[in-house]
Amino acid sequence: MHQKILKILKETKDYVSGEQLGEQLGVSRAAIWKAIQKLKEEGYQIEAVSNKGYYLSSSEDLYNGVEIQEALTTKVFGKEIFFYEQTDSTNIRIRELAKQGKKEGVLAVAEMQTAGKGRRGKTWQTLRGTGIWMSLLLCPNMTPPETPLLTLLAGLAVCEAIREQTGLSADIKWPNDILIQGKKVCGILTELDAEMDKVNFVVMGIGINVNTECFSEELKQAATSLKLEKGESISRKKLLCAVLKQFETIYYQYEKEGSFLPFLSRYKKYCINVGRPVQVFSKNPFQGICVDITPEGELIVEKENGERVTVFSGEVSIRNL
Ligand code: BTN
Repeated sequence: MHQKILKILKETKDYVSGEQLGEQLGVSRAAIWKAIQKLKEEGYQIEAVSNKGYYLSSSEDLYNGVEIQEALTTKVFGKEIFFYEQTDSTNIRIRELAKQGKKEGVLAVAEMQTAGKGRRGKTWQTLRGTGIWMSLLLCPNMTPPETPLLTLLAGLAVCEAIREQTGLSADIKWPNDILIQGKKVCGILTELDAEMDKVNFVVMGIGINVNTECFSEELKQAATSLKLEKGESISRKKLLCAVLKQFETIYYQYEKEGSFLPFLSRYKKYCINVGRPVQVFSKNPFQGICVDITPEGELIVEKENGERVTVFSGEVSIRNL
């Protein structure tokens, strides 16, 4: 009911009386009043003037499923959105939705996560209302070993969307951390549900520190937010829509062409590792200089003895030295 009222108020762009709304929707004025209170609780600014009725002020700054959906210009990604005021982890939500039969493009967005997951079993801190915490369901036509490429593609999309929306010089730390001035502003967690040679689905979890104003002592040295870097608040809704749009374009282009090559020069342009020393954490950790990225998205690391090792993102993590 309250969504129907919202639609009418948005379309009318003028005062609408309770009586008019009641007649149109076939309910009492008391029911209308109740629904208006619910909309106000959700953050909508609705003026109530006697003899005139209800008027909706701009809802441009609001961040919820309805507003995000309205602002999206994508074809598949985010066409169905599950918005949570609070949930454990949007990655867990999407996994469950996939098991219930939901299809590619379904999106989970949270204002706050109580068990946000980071890579390598770490937790991901998510303060209420400060960032974009979202997960997307993908059903790519890929074999399991190919899927780490999705992570690189998502990193490229986030990096380009941040640059476009904020003008900040976002970089990629291979495979998919997004940094500004060397500090992390976005992390991506890709989780796979697969059999030996078949991918059932992929959960693409993206966390962006948008308007975070301060970080814990533990994180301060390594993390930042777009607001801290830009010196002003950034619209989470616009950025989320830009990320999804960019990722959708890249993802379906990849699906069509079946190769990372068309994205390689863009990826390399933003990737800070090339030409720098790195530490590779694998079964046998080693140090070296990252000399290039292959057309398959792998890192080529040259050891001190000149030996070149190809590092695949599914297997290892690296640290800048
Ligand atoms: C990393 O460690 O760099 C990855 C962090 C990924 C965090 C995001 S926030 C939305 C989604 N839900 C989660 O629980 N994790 C990802």
